[in-house]
Amino acid sequence: MSVNLFRPIRYSVFAIALLSGVAYAVAPPVTGGEKRADKKNQEDPEYVAEMKAKVFSKEAISVANGEHRFNQTCVYCHGYKGSGGKAKMLQGRDFDADYLFKTITKGKKRGSLVMPPWKRTFTPEERWELVTYILSLSEEK
Ligand code: HEC
Repeated sequence: MSVNLFRPIRYSVFAIALLSGVAYAVAPPVTGGEKRADKKNQEDPEYVAEMKAKVFSKEAISVANGEHRFNQTCVYCHGYKGSGGKAKMLQGRDFDADYLFKTITKGKKRGSLVMPPWKRTFTPEERWELVTYILSLSEEK
């Protein structure tokens, strides 16, 4: 009786062990150290410039990607199409691309209102895509 009761449990433990072994073989976990080093290299000015050129060279796709990300992460404070809300409106403005990149990277404060830095959330490529989207809003009203 007790054997019948425990057999399924023993089998599932075996299955879990087997599956996690397979998962480890397919995608071994990245250690924290490597990941941090990776992020640091990404902020290298040369790499950032390379990503800027890449993102601006396929503008239509970049704006679409930027819009998608903006709607997920930035709309809460900056409003639909950057129409404003908790933070200043971003549409109809005359922004410099490098200023936008730097501000998104480092965050910004106005009085008690704080925008966190996005450096750890988005890669330079993703930040440049956000820049192209915000620049595309300069003609919105
Ligand atoms: C928690 C609220 C919040 C979120 C979320 C947020 N921001 Fe901000 N943002 C602010 C505040 C506050 C400021 C600084 C003061 C202001 O412009 O009102 C600011 C400023 C900015 C500026 C500079 C505007 C200027 O006039 O110089 C840009 C560009 C910007 N944010 C882009 C973004 C992008 C892109 C995202 C999404 C990745 C984002 N923000 C998400 C709150 C936020």
